Amino acid sequence: MEEHSINIAYTEFESVAELETTDRDLLAMAADACNKAYAPYSMFQVGAALLLDNGEIVCGNNQENAAYPSGLCAERVAMFAASARFPGIAFKSIAITAKSKNFVVNQPVSPCGACRQVMAEYEKLGNKAFKVILKGESGKIIVLNNSSALMPMAFNSSHLNPGQK
Ligand code: THU
Repeated sequence: MEEHSINIAYTEFESVAELETTDRDLLAMAADACNKAYAPYSMFQVGAALLLDNGEIVCGNNQENAAYPSGLCAERVAMFAASARFPGIAFKSIAITAKSKNFVVNQPVSPCGACRQVMAEYEKLGNKAFKVILKGESGKIIVLNNSSALMPMAFNSSHLNPGQK
């Protein structure tokens, strides 16, 4: 028997003023995308801004649907759009923010499991860690230097093809 543990390293910031300029700018773009979300059912709007290795920035926001499960989170809208437009280009960082029409979001938005799984896929594909910047409307900001830390032991291509890495 062997015991293992997994640690997740992240940094907390008190305000956007403490962030690197690039991260702050990316969060501003995520906030802009957040304002354009289509979330008439949950009233919870999420925006994501994804910076790619080629310098392009692709934004996304949550898109809900009367058939609830047909909707998609902001993060996946952004990541899928980025991979569709710039296939094979690694991700550098993703900024994610949220607001609600019903209350003040006073904690950093926490990406859902499916979005974490998709982040892990693209991080592996890009062969390079990418940064995740999480913010609410108010309160602290959380920054992780590698997205896959959010999804330890993720299902990946090696599980489908045991011979491959
Ligand atoms: N949502 C996102 O877009 N990203 C997250 O990180 C959390 C949840 C969306 C899905 C749904 O449209 C709404 O927020 C409420 O769950």
